[in-house]
Amino acid sequence: MITFTEAKANERMKKYVPNFLLMFCFFWTAAPQMLSASGRTISFPVPQFCAADTNLYQYMPFPMGASVAISRMKNNARYIEVVTKEFNSITAENAMKFRSLHPTENTFNWADADYLVDFAQKNGKQLHGHTLNWYQYLPAWVNNFSGDSIAWENMLKTHIQTVVTHFKGKVASWDVVNEYFNDDGTIRPSIWVKNLGADYIARCFQYAHEADPDAILFYNDYGHEYSSAKRTAIGKLINSFKERNIPIHGIGLQFHMTYTQSDANISAAIDFAAATGLKVHISELDVRVNTNKVQGLAFTDAMAAQQADRYKQVVKTYNAIPKSQQFGITTWNVGDADSWVPSWQGAPDYPLPFDANYLRKSAYKAIIKGVK
Ligand code: G3I
Repeated sequence: MITFTEAKANERMKKYVPNFLLMFCFFWTAAPQMLSASGRTISFPVPQFCAADTNLYQYMPFPMGASVAISRMKNNARYIEVVTKEFNSITAENAMKFRSLHPTENTFNWADADYLVDFAQKNGKQLHGHTLNWYQYLPAWVNNFSGDSIAWENMLKTHIQTVVTHFKGKVASWDVVNEYFNDDGTIRPSIWVKNLGADYIARCFQYAHEADPDAILFYNDYGHEYSSAKRTAIGKLINSFKERNIPIHGIGLQFHMTYTQSDANISAAIDFAAATGLKVHISELDVRVNTNKVQGLAFTDAMAAQQADRYKQVVKTYNAIPKSQQFGITTWNVGDADSWVPSWQGAPDYPLPFDANYLRKSAYKAIIKGVK
């Protein structure tokens, strides 16, 4: 029999214990972030019942990734913790580019990229390769290369096939060629086009496919959301590949976008990519807010809300394309302090779902809302 006092005590327990647990969970999950923000990194084991301790990728019906900087993957404990916990896919931000892997004509430097392979394998992450061919981030020996077209072809083929072979079975997908087109849809006059002709791009895909017939091969570019001319050019390229049986399996939309980007443009880009029938990778997502390049710009609540809304719109639109075409979404690095945007635009910015202390921003929650 329960007495009046016991019943009252039970009632109070029911009322206050959940609040206490919530506060406890909040402290437990927030404390490491607060401490790391103050310069110390401490990890607490997180109790199972703390619903606050969720991770991003578990909410997503497709792989959710980030590009990673090798220096931080080696030296920043909080960064490693966030990458490990929140994402189930990674892309090397720079470690698999030509200059990183092939610094001199007869030297391949695998150490950094292999470090990421090892991390991905130990932690069950998908590892996307970026990028076999680009007009930027080339070593001096390539920029100064003076061979004839046969020597250029041999150099291109050797690079692609040595890299793909090295990572065979470890890297399941590649951005084969990056940024072949200008924004107006014309072909960029890169060092590759100049020395090998415009159709060298098809041979890049053939060389990669020969080296690893199982690899999923992407064409990756930016600007799909603001340039219909570029979209059209990419569509024509893909059609010509299909007609000629050139192996291509996916299209990467970088999506380095501004927080003023329209719903219509986001849909146009994603729907266009989906209409190719290929896999679609939102491959380098970030949403910058400092459109006027204001020095000393602070990140306001209004900016956070508008940025979050853009993240949500991208995820929501992407989630509506056929599941078989959803290769995944990858943000371009993790926290605001890791982003390439401030140094590129010469002014501060806050483009990523985590802030400089790796606290989750509104954009983080918006990504999850995008699939609900
Ligand atoms: O590692 C050196 C460091 O030793 C040196 O002190 C420092 C001085 O500038 O440079 C460091 O290298 C920089 C590297 O990033 C690592 O931080 C390079 O200068 C810099 O050019 C390089 O920028 C990268 C850029 O691609 C060029 O490769 C960015 O991190 C990277 O985010 C950016 O990523 C590209 C994608 O690959 C393709 N799509 C666009 C995207 C943004 O530009």
